[in-house]
Formats: sequence, structure tokens, C-alpha cells
Amino acid sequence: MSGDGGDPGRGAAGARRAVFRPAGDRREDRLVRLGQLAQGDHASPHPACGFPRLQAAGASARAGDSPSAERPARAARAAQLRAAEHGRRPRHLRHRAPCARRPPIRTRCAECPAPWRRSGWGTHRNGNGGAQRALSVLLRRLPVHPRAGRTADAAGRGWLELLRHQRCGAAAAVGRRAGDRHGRARQPGQGHGRNRDPEHEPDVRAGGNDRAVVAVVPAAVSATAQALRGQRTRSRTIEALAGRADEAHDALHRTHVAHLFRFATRRENKEFLRALCPLCASVVASAAARDTASESGLTTTAPLVPVYEQFPLTVVSGRGSRLRTADGREYWDFYGGHAVALLGHCHPAVTRAIHEQAERLTFCSNAMPLEVRTRAAERLAAFAPHGLGHVFFCNSGAEANENALKLAVQQTGCRRIAALDGAFHGRTLLALSATASEKLRAPFAESLCDCVRLRPNELEDVWQIDGRVAAVIVEPIQSIAGVVELSAEFLTALRRRCDLVGARLIYDEVQTGMGRLGRAFAAGAHGVLPDMLTLAKGIANGIPMGAVLMSTPIAEKVKIGDLGATFGGGPVACAALLAVLETIAREGLVAHAARLGEAMRSRLCVGPVEQVRGRGCLIGVCAHGHAKAVQRQLLERGFIVGTSADPHVLRLLPPINTPLEAVDALAAALREIGETCDAPLAESR
Ligand SMILES: Cc1ncc(COP(=O)(O)O)c(C=O)c1O
Repeated sequence: MSGDGGDPGRGAAGARRAVFRPAGDRREDRLVRLGQLAQGDHASPHPACGFPRLQAAGASARAGDSPSAERPARAARAAQLRAAEHGRRPRHLRHRAPCARRPPIRTRCAECPAPWRRSGWGTHRNGNGGAQRALSVLLRRLPVHPRAGRTADAAGRGWLELLRHQRCGAAAAVGRRAGDRHGRARQPGQGHGRNRDPEHEPDVRAGGNDRAVVAVVPAAVSATAQALRGQRTRSRTIEALAGRADEAHDALHRTHVAHLFRFATRRENKEFLRALCPLCASVVASAAARDTASESGLTTTAPLVPVYEQFPLTVVSGRGSRLRTADGREYWDFYGGHAVALLGHCHPAVTRAIHEQAERLTFCSNAMPLEVRTRAAERLAAFAPHGLGHVFFCNSGAEANENALKLAVQQTGCRRIAALDGAFHGRTLLALSATASEKLRAPFAESLCDCVRLRPNELEDVWQIDGRVAAVIVEPIQSIAGVVELSAEFLTALRRRCDLVGARLIYDEVQTGMGRLGRAFAAGAHGVLPDMLTLAKGIANGIPMGAVLMSTPIAEKVKIGDLGATFGGGPVACAALLAVLETIAREGLVAHAARLGEAMRSRLCVGPVEQVRGRGCLIGVCAHGHAKAVQRQLLERGFIVGTSADPHVLRLLPPINTPLEAVDALAAALREIGETCDAPLAESR
């Protein structure tokens, strides 16, 4: 096996090439050997940077990589190994040129004389042409600054993991060429001459080394980026990585990990891929979901434009706070489909109302009065705080915010808005102007309206709101940001400032409204009433619906034709909204939401949880480690929870009629997970 790969050590060029030839002939022996090296065996510190040189015999002897005094010994050892190697190699392979052409090192640091070097890890040969080529891809991607010893280490560890899992499909794809020299994908069992090895035949059949490499090294990429962040370098690659670690990470994974996962046929290989990088669990999860879907005979998600990360489960039915998947498992739904399942799944009262309305009348134009629509508006206005008694129906949260902001712009004549750091208000253009995520905003920067950004709960920022601002829009508890509650002082200051400068105050209660917080709405709390309040998500318990509630002074200025939505206030959605409001009142669900909130706050601070915040059924759970790792562990234990923009915060948005026993079950699962549940790779990031 060791002779499988191209001969690295022929002639002067070969001497410069990385050679690793431990005594054992088998690949496993070499991997063990690499493992020893990883633990520092044979490692001596580099004089320039202190990073241990990990080259084994005949290792890289690039200029500047090691003191010249060491070269003769290494060269001798390399020659010895080559001789031994030739004894074993079939004659017809002896003339073969080495597989990999390592790119010349051209980069030098702008600030110190030490030449850049490639990660010492990457210079090992594992006796396989495919791997060597894969390594060269890695090397091209990860030039390592002498000061970034830890980074190189991280890169190396990623590689070591990979090599250790040679028997796994993912690694096998690196360990051998996934396609022939013409780029055709290889079939299982079909080897490549010296690379042929049925025992280690890869089960990742397409994608090529490049894919396999980037599947494994994002940890290293991120670590490199992080280690180099803030350091001035000339390398554009590194600058790009340092500035955009997350994007690089995302991009690499979207393209490659999912691909690998799909082609890995063995279960342990899939597990391996899953374990590689907890941050990427969601990408793997979406691939897994496709698998599950196709295994269960359901249509895959393939024709859908893949804009949503996927949970690794295929839901077939739901009842209350429980979801059932295609494989017959049941889950507690502590996410409620992003807060949509306000009364849980398939609440009988809502289902009945939808059914009856659909039998009577499914659609009726807004140009005709409709009894169910009028009734729904009246009931909603009655549920809302006094002073927000006028309703405009639309279809979603973004649409509700867009219309509220439009009204503010129209009525004030100003084009500027104010919103908070971390805010999410939707993706239509005005709503996006208020949304904070740079990632979402950047492609449309030219089309967005001017937005003053305030820091949540920073009273001094309130002074930025001046006479040019049409509207201030806030989520009373910022959900996606990681459940950040706005203080009474801040909200009061916003209200006063808006009154002073003539700006409109808009509460986005798309998530916080409809009883979720243990009170009907956040509006009205602390004596602060907004001019407009927007709703969506759970308002009709899953039937698309949005609404803008507004005060009389605002509503009085709205003329016919100012706003409109063909499906807004449709009969079926209105019937569902009526059923939701009736059920909340009949079953005392606002009070129950408050009780659930208390229970979650008091009982969930266990296992990996450091802190619990939020109100009612909008709860943020701060974990010691990475929230995604906890999310995955909970999923395995039958609990669906959400994450947030804060990598340490999980979001719980359970239906407001969830039984209290579910909270106890969740607490038990968290206890079982224990304090730390981050996989080691996550720690390196
Ligand atoms: C607070 C808030 N506002 C607005 C929206 C946008 O809602 P939709 O996706 O229905 O457009 C969301 C969606 O998550 C939200 O959380």
C-alpha cells in the first residue's frame, strides 16, 4: 500500500518533496505514525516561529523551513527510504513522476523576514497520489504565516482526522482520486492502477479531491482566518479569509459537505461527516433530510430553490406540541415552526374553522364587504391594547412591516428610518432597510432606504432620532438576535423622542404578539403604546396572514388605494384568526404562556445551559458552548429547538398551550447532555 502513491523521493526534486515513510508497510501504520507526530513526537520547534516541525524523515526542505545543518541528515534518511521503497515498488512504476506538483511559495510576510511556510502537516505524504494532490489543494488554500502556529496545528489536526478515517468514505475520497484523469467519476471497485485497493474502496464516488479537502478543512480555514484576523498581510487570500471567515466557511460547506454526504453510502461515513464540524451540522442535516425524504419514498426537496437550512427530519404530521416524522419518531416541538404554531399543530378548533369556511367561501375580493373579515378585524382590535383599533390585513410579517413603514414615510414626508442593531423585520426592501444583517442587506445596498442604527437599550443612541426620521421600528424582544429584551426606559425614551421629532413608533410584534409573552402584546407594557403594531406568524396558526394595527391619527390619513393586498384578509385566514382568538380566550392561554415561561426560566438552567432569558413562550437559552451543538444533541433526544444570530443562544418558541411536563422532559434531556457538548473541532474555531 505504501507504494501505491507516486514516488515522492526521486532525484533532487523528490528530495525537496515531503516524504513520510515509516517502517510499517500498511497505511494504518502510517496513520498511527502521523498520530504520534500530531502529539509532538519527533517535533522540534521552528527557530523562526516556534511551531513544531512535523516533517518526518525526508520532510520538506524548502528554503527557510529549517536550518541548513539538518538537511544532510534528512537527505540521507530520504535517500535510505527511497532505496527501501524502490525495492518494493513494481518496476513499471519506478519511472513515474510524483503525482503532486506543489505550488512554489511566493508569499512573504510584509512585516517580518520569516518566509511563509505551508502547514507542516500538509507536507506529509501518505503514499497516495490522490491524497498528495488533495494536500496540494489544501496547501494552496492555506498558506500559513510563521506566527500562526496554532492555525497550522488546527489545519494539521483536520488532516490528521481525515487520515485517521481513511476507511471512511470521506477520507477515502481524499486518499484516492475520485475521478479519472479525464474527470470522469470512478465507480466503486474500479481502481486506478497503483491506487487500486478494494479494501479501501471509497464510497464517495464523485466530487474529486478538491471537494474532499474543503469538506475537511473548513475548521482550519476558519481557524486560519481567525488567527490572522487583524494582522496586516499581503496575501489577498488570507485577507479575504480573515475578513470573511464565516462566508468562506459557509460557501465551502454548502458546496462540498452536502455533496460528500450525499455520496457517502455507509452510515459511519455519514456520522463522520456530521462530526467533522458542528457548525456545519445544518448543511449536513439538509443533505440528510434529502436522504431521509428519498428513503421514505417522499419527494425530495431537490426542485426547491435551496434557501433554507434543513433539519434532518421529514415531518409527516403534527398534533399539539408534538411532531411525527416519516421514520415514526415523535418530537417535542419547542420551535413551533419559527413561532407560527401558536396553538400547536392542527388545533381542532382552527382546523374546523378553516374547513367550514373553505366549504362556504374560499376567496372574496377586498373590494366587497365580508362578514368574516369584519368580525376578525373587530376581534383582533379588541384583543389589542386600547388605542390600536384599526386593522389592515396582509399576508406576512415582511409585508406588514413594509406597509407600516410605507405609511410612516408617506405621512411624514421623510425617507429615513431608525432600527436597532440585530433587528430582523423581513426581506422586502423597506423591511430589509430596517433589518440589521449585513449579509442580507449588502446585495441591495443601493435600493435600501437610509437607516439610523441604534444599539438596543442604549439611551444615548436615542438622540440620533431627529426630524428627518419617518419611523422607528423595534421588536420589543429581539428574537432572532438572541432574545434581547428592550428595557422599559429605552422604550419610554423612544416614545418620547418620536413624539418630540414627529417620527412614528412601530412595534414589530410578529413574534412577540398574540399572547406569546404571557400578555396579549408587548405594546402597552410600561405605559408605552406604539403608533403602529405589526403581526404575522402565529396570528392564524399556520394560515398565511399578516396585519398592521394602527392608531386613529394614522388610520385617518390613509386614503383608498394607499395600501392593498389581493389575498390580505382572505376568508379562510380570517376564519382561522377568529378561531385562534376564541381558543386563546376559552382556554386561558395567555396565562398559560406566562406559566410556561416561568417554568422554562426556572427549570432549564441545567446541563450545558448558562442562562435563560426572555418571557412567556419566547425564551433564549444561553449555552456554555456552541448552540448548534446543543441543538443537535437535543434533536437526537427528541426535542426541536431553534438557534439565533448569537452562536451561544438557542431559541424556544413552543406553542403557548404546550403542557408543563414538556418543560420537565426538556430539562431532563439537557441534564443528560451534560455541561459540555461541543465537539473538539468546534473549540478550535
Ligand atoms: C420579528 C420579525 N419580523 C418580521 C419577520 C418577517 O416575517 P415573514 O417571514 O412572514 O415575512 C420575521 C420573520 O422571521 C420576524 O421574526
